[in-house]
Amino acid sequence: MLQEIIRKVGEIREKWEEERRDIPSLKVLEEVRIRFLGRKGLLTQLFTTLRELPSAERAEAGRLLNALRKEIQGEIERLKEGLAAKAEAERLKREAFDFTLPGSWRRVGRLHPLTQVRLEIEQIFMEMGFDVATGPEVETDYYNFEALNIPADHPARDEWDSFYIGEGVLLRTHTSPVQIRVMKSRKPPVRIICPGRCYRRDTPDATHFPVFHQVELLWVERGLTMAHLKWIIEEFVRQFFGPGYEMRFSADFFPFTEPSAQVHIRREGGPWLEIMGAGMVDPAVFEEVGYDPEEVTGFAFGLGIERMAMLKYGIDDIRLFFQNDIRFLGQF
Ligand code: PHE
Repeated sequence: MLQEIIRKVGEIREKWEEERRDIPSLKVLEEVRIRFLGRKGLLTQLFTTLRELPSAERAEAGRLLNALRKEIQGEIERLKEGLAAKAEAERLKREAFDFTLPGSWRRVGRLHPLTQVRLEIEQIFMEMGFDVATGPEVETDYYNFEALNIPADHPARDEWDSFYIGEGVLLRTHTSPVQIRVMKSRKPPVRIICPGRCYRRDTPDATHFPVFHQVELLWVERGLTMAHLKWIIEEFVRQFFGPGYEMRFSADFFPFTEPSAQVHIRREGGPWLEIMGAGMVDPAVFEEVGYDPEEVTGFAFGLGIERMAMLKYGIDDIRLFFQNDIRFLGQF
């Protein structure tokens, strides 16, 4: 009987020697392990026959079987390590990625410089407690001119070369009509800014373009004076352009403000730059919208967003804003 065991051990060893030679993967290795060492494996089966041996032979047979089992187990461990290392190497090769290669990148869009500047201006005034109000770009003669104290035959109309669309309908020449619309729909106090696109029949050059953008401000309340207007503008200049600017008011004329002023700023030693028109709201405008000029006063100003952007960033041609050249737009 021991002979029989010895023969079988030899057979299993031979079989193992043959199989272990080409095991291509961990999966096959596991199959082979089960075939030899599994619960119903060749070697395990042989162990169960030990019981049938006479006890004198059992020890020797057990020793043989254990030796073979140890041998196979050890070999399987070694094979496993080798195969795992090989699998890992293959995975790394498959997933090889050269981090030093230049990336393929997607162009990220951003806001147009005029939009950025508009938002920045809005932010400054919103923090001071002003609301943002908007209105139609196609306006009636009434809101764009008449209600602003510019009757049909007024010479001031010549200053606003307008695009007329139909009888009494035009593309607004400023955002002042928004102020009329707001005042007609609200009781004072009113504290608004009106950003928006405006149109004038200008021939394009470095400083003119038939489409441009404005922000106008209007504050109506009891007891407001030119001093409040000056403070607001000073505060705006400090926040938008930074410290170190001085400011100058000079007389001007607008039909809807009295007195009216032109505001210039300059850095010490620099040239004076005009930044806006401003003034105290004309009593005739208050009467038109149903406010009592004996009770409230107010002031307004209007600035061009293009002009603000050009001064802030040193842009010397307004047409650049409208040419959609990425090389220009990408700089902001
Ligand atoms: N509406 C004027 C313009 O477009 C600017 C302005 C606004 C002037 C408010 C005074 C007060 O030229």
